[in-house]
Amino acid sequence: MIKHFIESQQLDKDTIFTLFNKTDELITSNEKLLPGKILATLFYEPSTRTRLSFESAMLKLGGNVISTENAKEFSSAIKGESLEDTIRIISSYADVIVIRHFEEGAAKIASSVSSVPIINGGDGSGQHPTQALLDLYTIYKEIGRTDNLTVVIVGDLKHGRTVRSLCYLLGKFEKIKIIFLAPKHLLIKDDIKEYLRRHNVKFEEQTELDRYLPEADIVYMTRIQKERMSDEEYQNAKEMYSITDENIKLLNKNARLLHPLPHVEEIKLSFKTERKDKRVAYFRQAENGLYVRMALLVYLLG
Ligand code: CP
Repeated sequence: MIKHFIESQQLDKDTIFTLFNKTDELITSNEKLLPGKILATLFYEPSTRTRLSFESAMLKLGGNVISTENAKEFSSAIKGESLEDTIRIISSYADVIVIRHFEEGAAKIASSVSSVPIINGGDGSGQHPTQALLDLYTIYKEIGRTDNLTVVIVGDLKHGRTVRSLCYLLGKFEKIKIIFLAPKHLLIKDDIKEYLRRHNVKFEEQTELDRYLPEADIVYMTRIQKERMSDEEYQNAKEMYSITDENIKLLNKNARLLHPLPHVEEIKLSFKTERKDKRVAYFRQAENGLYVRMALLVYLLG
């Protein structure tokens, strides 16, 4: 049993499937499993999906939510209060805290002083483990398996915390092959490559997206993170890889296109393709986030 959820490699396979089974149940159940429980969301970086889906998850489970919308500006951080003191205080007001922070390692620091579970909602370029969990759940539901997969991962792999967390989860399964495609200055970091080698995951670093689309079971596109690089680096990277109405035709009919969202220049699909092509799974993926996060709250607090 884990108390805090900081890194996706904390989960073993049994726990992953326990959470997936609970997620399946919660999609159709209206049971109020966490009456009276209080979730605090403490976000020092912007968010739409992570914050609102966690808040919605707790409300649907019969609990309550307290929140500071922009903790960098509207919490006492602006007066110089340390993260540790902020967490000590909030953990006396809430039963669980979801934190998003601009510094890698912040969620771990929070967990070291918190008396209640801390959930990492994204820490700088570190990890975003609940995103990886909902990504894997989406793969499981859409493809029907979590082993024997070719996953093409594209975009800003240097800063992409969702990619890092997803690689840690994929490393727990069998016969996984990953093809990384990124601009030269945004390559996947060595610690992930070392982890994949240790877990017998085959991987390649390649450059031509269209060449690898036909062999993918999953294409996982990511945004170039403008906010974490110079303007020149962003301009050099933003148009390098994109999915269009033309190259999506190269995807196998049973493959799926995922994206943690928000998407910008890397997705150039027409509205019609986004709505009608069943391979475009990223809106279903975001919706799954609500139910996966409900399951996680029940697991940590139930
Ligand atoms: N995928 C994701 O973390 O989205 P938000 O930044 O909107 O939370």
